Amino acid sequence: MRGLGYTHPAVVAAMLTRHQPPGGAPVLDAGTGTGIMGEILKALGYSRIFGFDASQGMLDRAAEKNLYNDLRPGLLGERLDFDDDDFAATVAAGVFTQGHAPLDGLDELVRVTRPGGHIVFSISRTYLGDIFEAKAQALELAGKWRRVDASNRYDSTPISDDVLTSQVFAFVVG
Ligand SMILES: C[S@@+](CC[C@H](N)C(=O)[O-])C[C@H]1O[C@@H](n2cnc3c(N)ncnc32)[C@H](O)[C@@H]1O
Repeated sequence: MRGLGYTHPAVVAAMLTRHQPPGGAPVLDAGTGTGIMGEILKALGYSRIFGFDASQGMLDRAAEKNLYNDLRPGLLGERLDFDDDDFAATVAAGVFTQGHAPLDGLDELVRVTRPGGHIVFSISRTYLGDIFEAKAQALELAGKWRRVDASNRYDSTPISDDVLTSQVFAFVVG
């Protein structure tokens, strides 16, 4: 992915810094993959990072980096193995995309993020537009979250022929 110029983690991390200052507050990296977000968040000064992923192979690769306080299996679309309000902020880079997590996985990210905490995530072209807007609005009408920020649209793999249009959003819980 890095060879394709993979941009999601940089855009998600940059937007997180606008809403959750670095420090010791617990941050959840949903769909950790090989731990690129962990590397960036640690470099920026976030010191307590937790992660989960559907793939044990990915978790094993992330664990080798010794960046995360805890890594565990978890599947967006099902109940996650975390308590309500566990995290001050949650990030998900490159996870809500074709062949990966369903948008209904956002419900669980809302549950495990504290009221007043932020969820910052990328949405890829498969969901961008009406599909994502319907999900975001349903959660907003239910009083679960409120949109506070959005990036411009960008290509998440600029060093490739395919244009994977994406956008990063920030919502505050509660
Ligand atoms: C493109 S990678 C992104 C990894 C990492 N966030 C990054 O930006 O480098 C997508 C990751 O989402 C994970 N994934 C896919 N579907 C998932 C789901 N339903 N629940 C949790 N993780 C999922 C995959 O195993 C993979 O590690």
